[in-house]
Parts: sequence; structure tokens; C-alpha cells
Amino acid sequence: MSRKIIVTSALPYANGPIHIGHLVEYLQTDIWVRFQKAIGNQCWYFCADDTHGTPIMIKARAEGIEPEQLIKKVYAEHTRDFDKYHIKFDNYYSTHSDENRQLSELIFQRLSEKGSIVKGEIEQAYCENCKMFLPDRFIRGTCPKCKAENQYGDSCDSCGATYQPTDLINPVCATCGTTPVRKKSIHYFFRLADYQQQLKDLMAGGYTGKSVSNKLDEWFSAGLKDWDISRDGPYFGFKIPGEKNKFFYVWLDAPIGYMASCKNYCDKNGLDFEKVWNSNEYELYHFIGKDIMYFHALFWPATLMGSGFRIAKRLFVHGFLTVNGEKMSKSKGTFIKAETYAKHLDPEYLRFYYASKLAGGVEDIDLSLDDFVAKVNSDLVGKLANLASRSVPMLTGKLDSMLGTIDAAGKKLLHQLVSAKEQIISDYENLDYASVMRQIALLADAANKYVEQNKPWDTIKTDAEKTRTVLTTILNAAKILTVYLKPVLPVFAEKIEKILNIAPLSFADIETVLENHKINEYIRLAERVDKDKVQAMLEESKNESAVAKAMADGQTGQVTLAEPIEPECTIDDFKKVDLRVAKVVKAEKVVGADKLLHLELDIGGITKNVFAGIAQAYVPEQLVGRLVICVANLQSRKMKFGISEGMILAGGSGGKDIFMLGIDSGAKPGQRIH
Ligand code: 2FM
Ligand code: ZN
Repeated sequence: MSRKIIVTSALPYANGPIHIGHLVEYLQTDIWVRFQKAIGNQCWYFCADDTHGTPIMIKARAEGIEPEQLIKKVYAEHTRDFDKYHIKFDNYYSTHSDENRQLSELIFQRLSEKGSIVKGEIEQAYCENCKMFLPDRFIRGTCPKCKAENQYGDSCDSCGATYQPTDLINPVCATCGTTPVRKKSIHYFFRLADYQQQLKDLMAGGYTGKSVSNKLDEWFSAGLKDWDISRDGPYFGFKIPGEKNKFFYVWLDAPIGYMASCKNYCDKNGLDFEKVWNSNEYELYHFIGKDIMYFHALFWPATLMGSGFRIAKRLFVHGFLTVNGEKMSKSKGTFIKAETYAKHLDPEYLRFYYASKLAGGVEDIDLSLDDFVAKVNSDLVGKLANLASRSVPMLTGKLDSMLGTIDAAGKKLLHQLVSAKEQIISDYENLDYASVMRQIALLADAANKYVEQNKPWDTIKTDAEKTRTVLTTILNAAKILTVYLKPVLPVFAEKIEKILNIAPLSFADIETVLENHKINEYIRLAERVDKDKVQAMLEESKNESAVAKAMADGQTGQVTLAEPIEPECTIDDFKKVDLRVAKVVKAEKVVGADKLLHLELDIGGITKNVFAGIAQAYVPEQLVGRLVICVANLQSRKMKFGISEGMILAGGSGGKDIFMLGIDSGAKPGQRIH
């Protein structure tokens, strides 16, 4: 009886493009889903964009758009890229959806009722300029260990040290460069430790593989800590019911996005979500990378346990991608976007190569570019495409496109190919695609040997029917290999189906033979990979990374992250700013504020007191008597040292580097500037 299976991949963040590292997971999952469908199981693949959190909010600000606009744009880019790689979701949704909000609130409510959520006060870094709490990644400073500058609040890119943001030397807000202060706030915490025993039982029941459960044992030994599931605003996410300015932490609602995507699919297709998601009639599997194991092996199952939802049958964890044996590198051009790869090379080649490397474990896989070229050219083009490319034109050109029958020698070869079926099915099921690909290559060798032995290009000159028999065997061999390969190479398979003039293949077609059957004209199946194309892809990636870096640096000056662009201001808004010539009547230092000067300005008979942040660039004596330009209608602001009633125009990168806008000495105080 066929199985009913639901599969998910980790949800990609909606703040950046899909790259070849992400593709390891989506391709691993897509191949598995296609395989399940090909052996006759009902299998649905659900995913979504992971749209919430500070990085997305900040990125939208940097682009001068609303987060909703950003996630819409990224959704279009992600789905475009997935299509290019033939990654076929049954539903690709968004965590910023009604379904996800409802399910997140439901889970939160059930956990609260159960006593699994408690409130507590914590102290965090806060930027008084940006008016927000700063996640570790949004604090930068000098590494306490190696003294490298401009490092993140949680780890150093230069020496690899990990630390607390409070350990950083000269910490600043990554967005605006202000030194953060410590500020207290009440947060909601999920009591993970309450679920320790249930989680241990889950692992013992085979939720994860051995190497993953070893890691979990370490975490259990270290003790499970309460998990902070709330964030203060401003934050892009779901507001916590009953709260004014608190939101669910992105990692609370992200995995619930798996359910939301499933619910959306069920609603669209008239299915009962409760039954699909929550009954054992459907097997549920999650595919993830090893970096997010803690979330999927501890937090996620515990929140499901506490809220009465069932847990996946199995968590499949893969390793990272290295390129040429190293971490993907922007400067070497090996940080390759999915889109950039696809401009230069066929996405199916990457499917083919990754499949040859993926064996189901947590080990990293390496994309060695020389090996990639060699494997595609020798195995895909040389061994697999070759079977059809040598036979089909002969059959269509000289033998009326008609297959004949298969003789004893042919049956022997086909029997060898068919015999691999059970092992290949078992390897696919266990995610050992590398083994599948090795078997396919060996079987293709056997088929090619048969071709060499029978030399149809010679026999065609003397014995047409013998040649037809041989070609019939070869094309039946190609058909069997295509069934095996189809989860990996869906487009290649489709072309073979078209050439062979047959309906879409599945594993049920392995034993059937094509005899006395008319085929179609040959279509080109696969081109050899040219090394120059790989080089061009690396160059383009290198340039893209350099341009992206220059833009980020250019936007921010001293700090690396983009300074947010304020919301749009219309020309009418701008016209409201009333600029006047002002004379500095008095200037003095402000005790306790080394950046401020207190200025008394005369604006044509009106006196205004202004606190200006120019004390490191000008001494008071330089200013008295000077004509400056003042925003005369700025709303008064209460500052720590007094009330500031205006602003003088000055600019620069800060500190000594600030220049006041002056004006011709013939101008009159109070005169309007346009
Ligand atoms: O690590 C990440 O890229 C996350 N966006 C994965 C989320 S998976 C799931 F929990 F939503
Ligand atoms: Zn700031």
C-alpha cells in the first residue's frame, strides 16, 4: 500500500538570495520527494520564506522600503531560482501569513495554559539613537581576543573566538555607530527543561541519526535552558497577543511556517488540515542543515509536545557545502548565487553532482570544480547521454524509427540493470544518493560495453535487423537508467521520454520492455561542460560580491552595515523646513557633554537656544559673531542639558570631521534661505 508522506526543507530567510550552499538541502529534499512520487507514494513537499526578524527589518530600511515590500520581492526571486533548479514544492508559502499567525498564537496560548511559558526580566544592549534593542549580530566592536576591529557581537570573523557582546571593546550599534547602553525589559521564556525526558525519549525512538543524537547528548549534559521567545519592538514579526510592543521571536514562528504552508495547501485543496498534519496516516519528515539542529531537535519538538501536535517521524540533517575544499569565499568568487550559476551552467549538472556526493550523513560535501567538470563530462555526457545519442539517430535515420525485439544477449543485459532496482530504491530511501549514482554509472558502463561489443555503426552497413535488435536493447537500457536517474535529472528524463515516445516514467516501468515501438527524433540531451564557463561564473560571482561590499561600505561610512534610509519625504514635507540666517551671539561648552556646544542665535530679533553636536570640530571662540544657517521652525526638544529650539546646518562623518554651513557676511540675520 502506498505511503502518505509530508516533507519540509528549512525555510530560507527573506533577506537574501538563494546560493549554492542552500541548494544542497533543497536538492537533497527535492530528489527524495521526486523519488517517493516515482515509487508510487503520495508525497507533498512544503516550504516557505522565513520572513520575520531584525535582519529583514533592517535590510528593508536600508533599501528604503517596507518589510512587506522586501519579502514580496525576495519571494519572487526565491521562487524563480527554485524553478530554475527544478525544485518542485507542492506549496511554497510565507511565514508572514494569516495561517502562520493563527497557528503561532494557538501554540503560544496552549503552551501558556500548560505553564510552559514564564515571564522574566533581562538586560540587553539598547541603541538610544535607533531606539531598539540590539541582537548580537547588530553590535560591532573590537574582538577582545585578537583585537580585530569591526567584529560582530557574538563572534570574531578574524580569529573565530565566540564571546558575549559585553566583552567587545568599544561596542557600537552596527546600524548607526552609537555606543549601546544596557536596558532592562520583560520577556517571555519557554521552559525547555520541562521537556527533557520527552525529548530524550524522542531521540531514543530514532528521531535523528547517531551523530546528531551524540550532539544532543552533549546539550542534555550541559543542561537545557529557558528559551527567550519574545522580542521588543521595533521588530518585524507577529505581535504577542495582549502586548503592545512585544513580538514572537522569529525562531518561534519559523518552524510553525511548515504547518502554515501545509494548512494553506490543505485549504486550497479541500483537505482536512488537522488530519493531514496531525494524524499518523501521514508520515512527516524535516530536512535541515546541521547549523539549525538545536532548533529542530529541541525547541521545535518541545513546543509541539507542549501544544498537542505530533512530531515528525525523522529529522534528516545534512552538512555544509565547501567549494574546492574550503568554505565558500566571496573574494575567491566561490560564494555563488543560484542565479549566477544558472547563467553559466546547467542547473541539472549541479543536481547530478550533488547527488553523487550526498550520502545521507552530516559530513560536509565538497564541490570540487575540476571534479564537477570531469564527472559531468565523463558520466553524464560520456556514459548516460551517449547511449541515446549514438543509437537514436541511427534508428530514426536508417531504420524507420522502429524498435524491434530483444534477443537473449539483450535480455541478459537488461536483467542486470533491472536487478539493481531494490538496492537503488533502498539507497534513495536512505538518502544515499552517492551509492545510487555509483550503481547507475556501473550499469551505464555495462550498457556501453554492450554497445562496443555489438558495434551497431558497423552492422548497420550489413545487417539492418541485427542492428535494430541491438539498438532496441540499448534504448531499453537507457529507459531503465532513466527511471533510476529521474529523481535527480527530471529534465533529462523528460527528453528521453519524448525521444522514446512514451508516457512519463516511474519505477513501475522498470520491468516493461519497449518492443516494436516507434520512437521520435533525437533531441540534444547534455552538452559537455567547458572549463571557461566555470571560470566565467567565478569571475562574475567575485564581481558581484565586490560590488555588494562596496555598496554596503559606501552606505555606512565607519560601520559595515547599511545605515537605514529614513521613510520617504515629499517635496512638500521638505518645503516645511524654514531655513534662516542666524548670528551666533553666544557659544559655550556644555559641562558633561563633550560633543555639544550651547549656542545662542539671533534670528532677526528672535533669540533661539540651540545645542549643537559640533564641540569636537569647533571651539566656542571661533563661532561668536559668525553667520550660520538655522532650521528655525524645528520643534523644541528637551535634552538632558536644556531645551534645544532649533538646529544649525553642519555635516560630516562625526568628531572633528564636521563642517558648518556658513553664509556670505552681507546676509542679514532672519533672512530666509531657499
Ligand atoms: O537558518 C535559517 O536559514 C532559517 N531561516 C531556517 C528556518 S527553518 C524553520 F524553522 F523555519
Ligand atoms: Zn543605532
